[in-house]
Amino acid sequence: MSTHRFLVTREIPEPGPSILKDAGDVVIKDGMSADELREAVTSGEYDVVLPQVSDTFDAELLAQAKIRGIANYAVGYNNIDVAAAADHGIAVGNTPDVLNEATANTTMLLLLGAARRAYEASEYLREGKFTGLGPNLLVGQDITGATLGIAGLGRIGKAVAHRALGFGMNVIFTQRPPEDRPVSDDELGDLAGRVSQVPWDELIETSDYISLHVPLTEDTTHLIDADVLQRMKSTAVLVNTARGPVVDENALVRALRDREIFAAGLDVFENEPQLAEGLAELPNAFLLPHVGSAEVGSRSGMARMAAENAVAMAHGETPPYEVMP
Ligand code: DGY
Repeated sequence: MSTHRFLVTREIPEPGPSILKDAGDVVIKDGMSADELREAVTSGEYDVVLPQVSDTFDAELLAQAKIRGIANYAVGYNNIDVAAAADHGIAVGNTPDVLNEATANTTMLLLLGAARRAYEASEYLREGKFTGLGPNLLVGQDITGATLGIAGLGRIGKAVAHRALGFGMNVIFTQRPPEDRPVSDDELGDLAGRVSQVPWDELIETSDYISLHVPLTEDTTHLIDADVLQRMKSTAVLVNTARGPVVDENALVRALRDREIFAAGLDVFENEPQLAEGLAELPNAFLLPHVGSAEVGSRSGMARMAAENAVAMAHGETPPYEVMP
């Protein structure tokens, strides 16, 4: 019987490698260029690939791919043309739920950091400028009593809503902007009566904070553009832990520079790992390097789920966490 061959495009934590090694041969790379990925995926040497969201599987690559499955090390799968994969009999899996709490925690870190000018304050201190407490020193925006607008009330959006309520915020949401569908109390569960659904236009114009929790699709690309930024309150804060291209990053740089909005907290970027010109120099941009799910438990849970998906795919079985077209 031939052994199963797994390709991991970038080192993942345990128990991922152990699960894979128990099931076959494992090659673990330290990141792969698009050309290296193409060569490996079309070589016929591997049964299943475990990629990162930065590894793109478009229709052209999938048409030539000689693999059984793609076990994405992420909940998001906008890097894979899932319909094209299905057309070629290639299974796709992801890692849902296990990172909800960690990503919601990162959202609050960005919200608080941007609102309370954490980056500026930390720089100020480290540069030796702190000469004593000052009533006007580095004053930020109110959080308790402010309105948080959640764009996309899925699993992570709901986890953020719970945290925001704990901070005494008023929580409004649009379930799937720019369009919407009514969300029932049953679907809201224990959030029913504690959060309010509003049209997207209202959310843009009335929120003190807007936090993005939509998947990246054609409809959500540049959901936040120059027009939306201009309609937000001048005291508003934008938080993005979803996907970079949901925001027109050049328009955001202009809006932050011109103080059209107060600040932004970003964990994801339009052209990762590059940042839009001028973004890194802005004092009102609180930036993290795509570490939304970077808690020990979440990352090892993702590794387990991706490896379990991969082993099932190698056996020709339906993966436990399957992504359907
Ligand atoms: C995800 O899981 O989609 C994250 O963005 C990658 O950690």
